[in-house]
Amino acid sequence: MSTPILSLEGFLSEKIPQLLQEHALDLKGKDKRFVESLHLALPKVYQLFHELYGAFPEAETQFLELLRSLIWSHKERSHALQERDQFKAEKGIWFLSNELAGMSLYVDRFAGNLKGMPAKIPHLEELGINFLHLMPIMESPLGESDGGYAVSDFRKVDPRFGTLEDLKALIQVMQNKGMYLMLDMVLNHTSHHHEWAKKAKAGDPEYQAFYHTYEDRWVPNEFEQAMPEIFPESAPGNFTWCEEMKRWVMTVFHSYQWDLNFRNPQVFRAMLENILFYGNLGVDVLRIDAPAFIWKQAGTSCQNLPQAHTLLRLIKQCVQVASPGMTILGEAIVAPKEIMNYFGTGEYVAQECDFAYHATQMALQWDMLASGETQVMLNAQEDVLKKPYGTSWITYTRCHDDIGLGYEDASIARAGKDPYLHRKFLKEYYSYSGDQWMSPARGVLFSSNPKTGDARISGTLASLCGLEKALFEGNGPAIELSIQKILMMQAHAIFLGGLPMIFYGDEVGYINDYSYQQDPSKNYDNRWMHRPLIDWEKVNRRKTEGTLEFQVYEGLKKLLALRKSQPVFSDWSNCTWMNPHNIHVAGLVRSRGSERRYCIYNFSESTAYLTWYVFREQGESATQLHDHWTDSLVTIGSDQEHLILEPYGFRIFEPKA
Ligand code: GLC
Repeated sequence: MSTPILSLEGFLSEKIPQLLQEHALDLKGKDKRFVESLHLALPKVYQLFHELYGAFPEAETQFLELLRSLIWSHKERSHALQERDQFKAEKGIWFLSNELAGMSLYVDRFAGNLKGMPAKIPHLEELGINFLHLMPIMESPLGESDGGYAVSDFRKVDPRFGTLEDLKALIQVMQNKGMYLMLDMVLNHTSHHHEWAKKAKAGDPEYQAFYHTYEDRWVPNEFEQAMPEIFPESAPGNFTWCEEMKRWVMTVFHSYQWDLNFRNPQVFRAMLENILFYGNLGVDVLRIDAPAFIWKQAGTSCQNLPQAHTLLRLIKQCVQVASPGMTILGEAIVAPKEIMNYFGTGEYVAQECDFAYHATQMALQWDMLASGETQVMLNAQEDVLKKPYGTSWITYTRCHDDIGLGYEDASIARAGKDPYLHRKFLKEYYSYSGDQWMSPARGVLFSSNPKTGDARISGTLASLCGLEKALFEGNGPAIELSIQKILMMQAHAIFLGGLPMIFYGDEVGYINDYSYQQDPSKNYDNRWMHRPLIDWEKVNRRKTEGTLEFQVYEGLKKLLALRKSQPVFSDWSNCTWMNPHNIHVAGLVRSRGSERRYCIYNFSESTAYLTWYVFREQGESATQLHDHWTDSLVTIGSDQEHLILEPYGFRIFEPKA
């Protein structure tokens, strides 16, 4: 028999006053904001918790513990961070600002370790970066780390990077400079070396209940029927036999990443405490890794289940109460319709994840680059343009992961193309097989699944834009053209609406690094080819005019500065696409009141002619347009005349009366 959870009224009238007293909170003074926001959030926290765990034995005790965690976390929050929370709150929705620009990097591959980071910050500041995503730095066993996404201790910095004190020191340096920090919370799984997994292996049933473990194949087989494989080549199947435990354990990603069982409220609370711990370190954006996977149900794909959303909403409410300055990015790399749900639906619109990756548009820009056409992209906008106000995208050309072509077949079909053939074309275009036809791209297929025909793409921005091949051939014009492509791809991501996230190395045009093939801890995962080990001599060439590093860096710097100088590029959910009068040209309108900017991109390798009518069609009354990219003024001509765009050329136009 399960114990029914005490009513909300019971908590409000009885338990909460007791808890507040127990923790000696100062209701009229320094704890006032917290207590108010706890009361405000309580009905939702209660409802969400109840939905997930109401029927669980000891639900009431678990709920009380959860409230204790919130109080504990608030009490631990430093005065300085509380002031920072206040500062952010006064800015409105601080993270929508056009003044933020991010970079994602591996601390060890970029700066050696955490202590080495401050010395590299000027390089980033000069570029216009004021937001850092440090790739996972918590303890993770070498050789079985998945780039740090197999965490064995959520509260200990891996010695390879330094110590928690080094991290705190870096955060201080960053905050003093007005910079923001994003860290990962790997919510879905732990390393099999985590102490919970070790206890489970030792036979402790309490900790076996932290994971999905089974003594035989009955349940695993049932799950496997409907679950796709994430790494079909390197980690086929979703379960691993653990000899020590003599049980099967669910391992959706690699065999060393054990999926946590969020049906167990103890797991939820333990992970929430880790989240709040990061909040109190001073994390500004928490990147929740792989949230689509956190709830499992046999007979389903175990992705995007309603309970996964309930869990995220519960996390959001708790964070808002105890760590109000920390926003949440849900790393849901799923179909466009599904991604949208991570912003919240129904009464929770804009109350789930504050950010999501714009994985759809990221992939679509690679689609446009390969095909030279914009129809598939334009046909895939219906859902993503509905992003609710108050939430935002991470916009990017690529990240540490592969590029998945995750948009729907229907968008391809609506564009008049055969989805199977179109995807085949894209895979061939980006993956170099030695005897390649005319494709300039140098990438490799990642996680090809012969059973489904699916494949994703690995490769750096520069290699996929043709720089690797052009350099290999010593082909000057091709080098120039690939730099132009790199900058157009960056411009497309930077002005898209959201927080642009540059992947480190791309700022100086790094090409693929194949040395991972010699490293047994990495050679099973070709994503390492696009995670460069930074050579600072190469980076310093950016200071020498005429080098490709100079061109790429200076171009990117100009784009970021341009975005930063114009508030209209804040993410006020203010994006529309212009009609496709030329299928090679994508035109994005960013508007705010009477302010407008037209971002025009020619995705084709040929000169494109765009009728001036496109601007009149937008109701544009100005007679001239100032292009911020080339710093030139053009006159809007008649409908029979054209704006002429060079191959892969782009413009960022501001109307001039
Ligand atoms: C996320 C990470 C990816 C990792 C996976 C498992 O998708 O971005 O690098 O392999 O989660 O944690």
